[in-house]
Amino acid sequence: MNSNIEQLNNIIKERRDNRNERIKADIELYGREVLESEEMKQAYDQTHHLWSTVAEHTLRVTASSVLICYVLRKLHINVNIPAVVIAALCHDLGMLDRSEKFSSDKEARRDHAEESVKVAREILDDMPEMAEKIIETHMWPMGKSDAPNTVEGVVVSVADKYTAVKDLVKGSDSNDTGVNNTVRRYKEKVKDAVNSIRNDTDK
Ligand SMILES: [Fe+2]
Ligand SMILES: [Fe+2]
Repeated sequence: MNSNIEQLNNIIKERRDNRNERIKADIELYGREVLESEEMKQAYDQTHHLWSTVAEHTLRVTASSVLICYVLRKLHINVNIPAVVIAALCHDLGMLDRSEKFSSDKEARRDHAEESVKVAREILDDMPEMAEKIIETHMWPMGKSDAPNTVEGVVVSVADKYTAVKDLVKGSDSNDTGVNNTVRRYKEKVKDAVNSIRNDTDK
């Protein structure tokens, strides 16, 4: 019985690993220009969603968006993965230097989508029209744009909201932040305190 479960777990793990490799390959293939841009490098240094960075959030949104596209394709729903990758990678780059560009958090939330389109146009020689539209509408219903009017726009908008919540839990890999890490560090602190009390009483 146990070995059956183990076998099943191994199959699931293998499939998940293969799928993650496929997602990574698609992101690298369609997003190369953005990934290699100076803006993306800068994005690793700017905090986003409290405990993450613009770059890490962006990559998570892109990976989740591509995964949703695979599922949609299985359901015979046609989706433009190159446009989704480009738009997801660029959707929040307008937040770079946010304190210089925007006078308040409210303004940043409302206006960064338009700024992201400008940054994306600077990075890409040939910006797909669909990618532009996806970026413009990604904040809906919170921004000032209309609702997305393509499947791809809905995919990135949903993946963005899902990822924003996940970011708070996961945090930044490079800055070692997030709810999970904070709880772990807190537990270790308590453990250390208990051990030191035990050592003192043993003396
Ligand atoms: Fe955004
Ligand atoms: Fe975002």
